[in-house]
Amino acid sequence: MHVLVTGGAGYVGSVVSAHLLAAGHRVTVLDDLSTGHADAVAPGAALVPGSIADRAATDVAFGRSTIDAVVHCAAKSLVAESVRAPELYWSNNVGGSLALLEAMRKHGVGRIVFSSTAATYGEPESVPILESAPARPTNPYGSSKLAVDQMLASYANAYGFSAVSLRYFNVAGALIGDGLSLGERHATETHLIPIALQVAAGTRPALSVFGTAYPTPDGTCVRDYIHIIDLADAHLRALEWTARSEQAHLVCNLGSGSGNSVLEVVEAVRRVTGSPTPTVAHPNRSGDPAVLIASNGLAQEVLGWAPTRDLEQMVLDAWNFAQQPARSA
Ligand code: UFG
Repeated sequence: MHVLVTGGAGYVGSVVSAHLLAAGHRVTVLDDLSTGHADAVAPGAALVPGSIADRAATDVAFGRSTIDAVVHCAAKSLVAESVRAPELYWSNNVGGSLALLEAMRKHGVGRIVFSSTAATYGEPESVPILESAPARPTNPYGSSKLAVDQMLASYANAYGFSAVSLRYFNVAGALIGDGLSLGERHATETHLIPIALQVAAGTRPALSVFGTAYPTPDGTCVRDYIHIIDLADAHLRALEWTARSEQAHLVCNLGSGSGNSVLEVVEAVRRVTGSPTPTVAHPNRSGDPAVLIASNGLAQEVLGWAPTRDLEQMVLDAWNFAQQPARSA
């Protein structure tokens, strides 16, 4: 199939593109390169530089040849920024997605896999979190992603779209090999594993541990980490699901089903890198739930998907990626 990957120059989109190409599919990337990198576009994918909100750009992307389905990763994704400047999230994530869905209608494409997030759930009542749990996001980033999930449900109902919202938990790791080196390159890095690896490499003095008195076994937050390659594989399976489903919207968590605390992640970083990786206790980061763990039973049942790479592998691959010659952030 020929897949249009929006945000295909970013972390998730680049690895999803490479995974689709390796499986023998054709890929066109639509990316405005605002946070992505042209050199991260998977070799073999065609790049259309432009925004999902720009009709001229989507006309080019959809018009080149028949697109069978869309993987929609293009988005703003910084929680703190979304609190400071919510208009960016309503405009890019919600307005941009609406423009993309309208472009899909115009070009007769009705299959889409969307990058949704665990942030749609907000503070969970219980874990593991089922897809049927209440969605009560606590920041505009999560709200904007939830709005698109709901948009997809309405397009499935009204226009026969076949759509999957994949709710990612904490994505980590990299894709390295076969001439590829794709990983996290955020100008503003907020994620735990890349930051801890910068400490291990000596480019940051210490890791700030945000909160040490949470109601968890070691007092630090617990998250559900998932390897980027397992995540990419789920996208391919979700695309296959859209081919056999009509007028349907599936919401599906992507997580391992188990959690690791911040201190456990730091221990994994120490083991992999051999560096002492110093930490300093910090106050809680505002809006951080104590524990986020996915139920992944639905992904197993409906997509036949299960993660195969553990935290150690994520840290090792992210470390190998970070050790490579400097690239632009
Ligand atoms: N953390 C630290 N120090 C740091 C960075 C993070 O202690 O320097 C902690 C955080 O407080 C949190 C854990 O490490 O407890 C993981 O933090 P990340 O920023 O790596 O990830 P989040 O769990 O905050 O965010 C992830 C996704 C978001 C999504 C969110 C849903 O990356 O896109 O889950 O809650 F919105």
